[in-house]
Amino acid sequence: MEIPTYHGKGWFGFASEIIENIAENTQALEEEYGDFYRVKGLAKPFYAIFRPSIIKYVLQTNAKNYKKSIAYDQLKIALGNGLVTSEGDFWRKQRRMAQPAFYKERLVALFDMMAAISTDYVQDLEAKLETNKSLEISQEMMTVTADIALQTLFSANDYGNQEEMYRIMVSVQEYVIKRVNQPFKIPLQYINGNHRQFLREKAVFDDLIYRVIQERRSSKEQRNDLLAMLLDATDVDTGEGMSDEQLRDEAITIFSAGHETSANALSWTLYLLSQQPEIAAKIRAEANEVFGDKVPSFQDLHRLNYTKQVVEEGMRLYPPAHALGRENLSDDVLDGVPVAKGSVAFINIYALHRSPKYWEEPERFNPDRFAPEQVKARPKLTYMPFGAGARMCIGNHFAMMEMQLLLAMLVQKFNFRLDESHPIETQPLITLKPKHGIKLFVNAI
Ligand code: HEM
Repeated sequence: MEIPTYHGKGWFGFASEIIENIAENTQALEEEYGDFYRVKGLAKPFYAIFRPSIIKYVLQTNAKNYKKSIAYDQLKIALGNGLVTSEGDFWRKQRRMAQPAFYKERLVALFDMMAAISTDYVQDLEAKLETNKSLEISQEMMTVTADIALQTLFSANDYGNQEEMYRIMVSVQEYVIKRVNQPFKIPLQYINGNHRQFLREKAVFDDLIYRVIQERRSSKEQRNDLLAMLLDATDVDTGEGMSDEQLRDEAITIFSAGHETSANALSWTLYLLSQQPEIAAKIRAEANEVFGDKVPSFQDLHRLNYTKQVVEEGMRLYPPAHALGRENLSDDVLDGVPVAKGSVAFINIYALHRSPKYWEEPERFNPDRFAPEQVKARPKLTYMPFGAGARMCIGNHFAMMEMQLLLAMLVQKFNFRLDESHPIETQPLITLKPKHGIKLFVNAI
C-alpha cells in the first residue's frame, strides 16, 4: 500500500523545517497527509503516527519487535541503565522490582510529604507576590516539583545537601537535553569543555548518592521514601536486591522522569486557566468544599473530581511527553504498509490529542470532556499522556496525585491572569516546554 509522504523542504531535501517544532509541525500536516505518513529527508526512515490502531500494534500487540529510538541513547549517558532507558530482560526485572514502590498503600505515605511541601510552597508564594509584576510560573512549578521529587525519593532534607543535589541533577539534565536536541553539536561539546564539566558534575553527584545509599544500608532506621522501597526490593527469581549502581540509575531516572513532566503539565494548565476564570472558579469551589481551611488528606483527593478533569484536559492540549519514539528490530507491516527494519515510529501524542477525528473543537480547553460518560464513549488509545503497553509510566498515579493536590491548593488561594506582553510558544524537547516560559499575574484571594 502507498503511504502519503512528506518531502523535506530544507537543503538537499533535509526535513529541518519539521524538526524545528516536531510536535506542532507533524500535527499541522494531518489534514493533507492523514494520521500515518512518512517523512523523507531525515537520518532514518521516519513515520509520523497518530492512528490508534497502529499505536496499539507498536506499543502492545507487537511491542517485542520495537525498542526505544536513538534519542534514548543520549539519555543513557546521564540516566544510565534505569527504567526509562533499559530494554529486554534487564528492564523487565527492574520494573518488577520497582513496581511495589508505586503501589497505592505506598503512595499514601508519599502523599503526606507532598502535602507538607505544597503547604509551605503556597505560603512562600504568597509572601513573594508583588503588585503589577508577573511571575514566571514554569520556573516556580519546576522548583516545587523538584522539592517533591527529592523529598519523596531521599527524604532529602536529612542530608543537608539538597541544594547541591538539585543543582547537579538540573545541570546534568540540561546537558543531556542539549545532546538529544542538537546531535550535530556533540563534537563541539567535547572541545568547549561542556562534556568535561558534565563528567565532573556527574562524579560529584555519584559520590553524593553513593554516600546516601551507604548510610541507608548501614542504618537500621525504617523510612518511607522511594529509596527505602528500592533498597528493600528483591528479584522474585534470584532473591537479590539492586546494586549501588542500579540504585543510582533508578534514583536519577525517577527524579528526571518525574519532576519536569509534572511541572510542565501544571504550568500549561495554569496558563489555560488564566484565560478561563470560570473554570478556575469551579476548581476553587470544589477545593473549598472538599478540604476548606485544612491541609488536604489522601482521601480528599478522590473527591477532587473536577480538578482531576482539569489536569487531564490540560495534558490533552499540552502532553508533557509529547511523543514516543520506537525503532523496529525487524521488517514489519503497519496497517498494510511495509516498514523496513530500523525505521523510526514517531508516535505523536500531541497530534493524537488534538485530532478532529476524536475531539470536537480540539483547540478548546474544556474539562467536561473528561466527565466519566464522555471518557467511556471515546475510542481507546485516543488519550495517552502516560504512554501505553508494558512501558507505560510507572509514576502515573504519583503524578496525578501531585498535580491534583498542587492545582487545587494553588487555585484555591490565588487568582492567575495571563501577562499578555509575554510570548507563549511550545518547545518540544524531551518534554513539551514553554519556550519563553509562562508569565502570569498572581493575586492572593
Ligand atoms: C505528568 C507527569 C508525567 C507524565 C506525562 C509522564 C509520562 C510518561 C510516559 C509517556 C512514559 C512512557 C515513555 C515511553 O514509552 O517511551 C513514562 C515512563 C516513565 N515514567 Fe513517567 N510521566 C510523568 C510522571 C512521572 C513520575 C512522577 C515518575 C516517578 C515518580 C515517572 C517515572 C517514569 C518512569 C520510571 C518511566 C519508565 C517506565 C518503564 O519503561 O518501565 N513519571 N512517563
